[in-house]
Amino acid sequence: MPIIKPGDFEDARVKALLTRHLEGMHANSPPGHVFALDWSALQRPEISFYTLWEGEDLLGFGALKELEALSGEIKSMRTADEHLRKGVAAAILEHIIAEARRRRYSRLSLETGSGPAFEPALMLYRKYGFLDGGAFGEYQRSSFNQFLHLELDAPRAERRSVTVDQGMDRQLRQRMLAYYDERAPEYEEAYTLGTGTASIPDPEAFKADARTLEGIVAREVRGRAIDLACGTAYWLPHYAANCSRITLFDQSDRMLDEARAKASAQGVLARCELVRGDFFDHDFPRHSHDAALVGFFLSHLTEAQERILFDALRTLLDPAGRFLILDSAWTPERAKFNSKTERQSRRLNDGTPFEIYKRYCDRVDIVRWAREQDVTLRIEHFGPAFYAVSGRFGRKPRW
Ligand SMILES: C[S@@+](CC[C@H](N)C(=O)[O-])C[C@H]1O[C@@H](n2cnc3c(N)ncnc32)[C@H](O)[C@@H]1O
Repeated sequence: MPIIKPGDFEDARVKALLTRHLEGMHANSPPGHVFALDWSALQRPEISFYTLWEGEDLLGFGALKELEALSGEIKSMRTADEHLRKGVAAAILEHIIAEARRRRYSRLSLETGSGPAFEPALMLYRKYGFLDGGAFGEYQRSSFNQFLHLELDAPRAERRSVTVDQGMDRQLRQRMLAYYDERAPEYEEAYTLGTGTASIPDPEAFKADARTLEGIVAREVRGRAIDLACGTAYWLPHYAANCSRITLFDQSDRMLDEARAKASAQGVLARCELVRGDFFDHDFPRHSHDAALVGFFLSHLTEAQERILFDALRTLLDPAGRFLILDSAWTPERAKFNSKTERQSRRLNDGTPFEIYKRYCDRVDIVRWAREQDVTLRIEHFGPAFYAVSGRFGRKPRW
């Protein structure tokens, strides 16, 4: 009866199979395209290395690398030549999938080569539910590699509750949500007066970039639109005329009161549905919108939460749908006054102090989204204060 044990790197049989594995990888991929881990690289704390034995015979090995708290990568799967076609790889894969579930990973990913030598492994991964997908982690897509992912069915709500807190303490999050609720009546001063943002002191920087963003919103948001974390619906007057239906979604009652008043003043309330909810607990109907506007929300999310945002956009957008992200840019000007990620003190006009979480994004972050999320992005504007990025998951834009 074969048993799985943590790999012993001092064992000559393990070393020999590992050497064979690396030779095989190099023989089947062009130089510079082999990402298999060597013996020393496998001995890192984020890697669990498993070996399958029958008595004294080493049948094969595989490794699980923790990419971040909620996802993992399968590395270095190998069956000893004399034990091929006996179910060795399947046994190791099942062990790794079970371990990933035990750790409550939401996703297991792998990078592999292309060509006939990789076909048997690909068939196995597909049999276990892995699907083709985008590059992840540090990988770049090339004609010599491909990426597969297995979504693990840890209950969604449970997964979210772990992720929601990631990188942000619960108290800070609650305080930030309360801040937005209380700030609702004076919130738009950030755009109209350029004040209240605890950042670049020159109000003109905000006012000028806000004008630019208004034009982009007018061009990009249309059809059945959702304004996610809409706040006061500041951008509504710029996109409402293009839209047949508008969902205004926010966690704050007072923000939604402001949004309702704005929709009413614009004469578009009948086309609007106002939904109060916490983004992280909400199940958005699948493919229900043509456009999603995400204004100044992403910079209040950690990187782990950012991934939930992209998942939600992928779910709620029609396959030909588009999103537009507006937010605070990380620029040399900003760097004079802020840290790229920070807790920020904010004060209401009456002096009431609050604290918020802020994570500014630069062009490198935007490129990272494109790579990690497999989305097509276009930087519409990257100003001293604000940026606008449009994107889509599908291939054919409708407009
Ligand atoms: C900086 S304001 C942006 C408002 C608007 N989108 C804009 O562009 O001006 C952030 C908004 O996100 C909302 N918000 C923050 N976390 C939320 C969550 N988890 N679910 C729903 N709304 C949230 C706040 O209530 C606030 O209205």
